[in-house]
Amino acid sequence: MKAVRLLEYGGQLVFNDVPTPTIARDEILVKVRSTAVNHLDLVEASGAARQIFPIDLPWIPGHEFSGIVEKTGSDVAAYAPGNAVFGTTTGMGAYAEYLAVKAAAIARKPSNLSFEEAASVPVASQTAWQGIFTYGHLEKGQTILIHGGAGAVGAYAVQLASHAGATVIATARGGDEAYLKSIGAGRVIDYREAQFEKVLREKVDVVFNLIRGDTQERSFLVLKEGGYLVSATQPVSQEEAARHRVSGAMMSLAPSGDLLGRIAELLEEGTIRPDVATVYALQDVAQAWKDIAGNLPGVHGMSPSGSGPATRRSHGKIVLRVA
Ligand SMILES: NC(=O)c1ccc[n+]([C@@H]2O[C@H](COP(=O)([O-])OP(=O)(O)OC[C@H]3O[C@@H](n4cnc5c(N)ncnc54)[C@H](OP(=O)(O)O)[C@@H]3O)[C@@H](O)[C@H]2O)c1
Repeated sequence: MKAVRLLEYGGQLVFNDVPTPTIARDEILVKVRSTAVNHLDLVEASGAARQIFPIDLPWIPGHEFSGIVEKTGSDVAAYAPGNAVFGTTTGMGAYAEYLAVKAAAIARKPSNLSFEEAASVPVASQTAWQGIFTYGHLEKGQTILIHGGAGAVGAYAVQLASHAGATVIATARGGDEAYLKSIGAGRVIDYREAQFEKVLREKVDVVFNLIRGDTQERSFLVLKEGGYLVSATQPVSQEEAARHRVSGAMMSLAPSGDLLGRIAELLEEGTIRPDVATVYALQDVAQAWKDIAGNLPGVHGMSPSGSGPATRRSHGKIVLRVA
């Protein structure tokens, strides 16, 4: 099969033939239709965080996919060849024509979504769900501040929080205001024009932080006592949290086929929707990585200048079409 591989940390991605994977009894062989690009792919490839995110080289990147079940292991009862599925990977990466994956990490693809849209869903939507509900304990009637609301994770957080009956405030660039209001944000603060802690009059119950830098530290100032600061990007100072009488935690996504199944229902009934910015062919992965590197300067030797970020739409996932 054809696959994209990294041969050495920080090296070029190569597109060539590798053996088609075999499956264990609890696994499924999926013919991949699409996969999506995540910041983590580039971080892993750079080797910059190899203690936390180790990879075995040569390595096939890709944490999420959509596709068709080709074959099932003898212990798999829930899926059969021909089923359209989507999910997160459980070992090998999804930048490939075929993928071996555990049945527990996948769900049926929502019938109203294209394979490209479906591949953009699993990581961002589950991160958003777990960030705001599992870690943030968000409830109906509460107020949440989402930093990076127009990003891949942020857009699901906005939609899920709004659907749960919370008041949603998001920070984003001003140009994303109309988009964010269309998916449920009540208020958008342009991070390039204003400091949220200066313009917010009321304190919030939950902060969900999806960006790096000092935004996280400043967020303590806008939290109600007893509130939650959840970060997807960096550890939360427990001393600061205690000083402000709030709880704080850095989340770590724990993907689950059951959760993805619940998210699939929300997608199918139109309660939430995916957002795909750009679709590239798998062999054009280098350009796709340049695009996403605009939000991740310095990683994998890429800089935010050049053709990628300048032309990149500011919201939505970057998807790779495999077949
Ligand atoms: N811990 C976990 O389990 C986990 C899981 C998934 C993702 N993550 C991490 O979560 C982060 C977000 O992921 P993503 O896929 O949503 O990234 P993304 O799609 O690149 O979104 C980031 C968003 O933040 C915006 N932004 C940049 N600077 C900002 C600022 N100062 N204030 C407000 N918004 C700002 C960006 O917009 P512009 O730059 O266009 O203005 C962009 O819309 C990444 O760091 C990723 O690695 C963690």
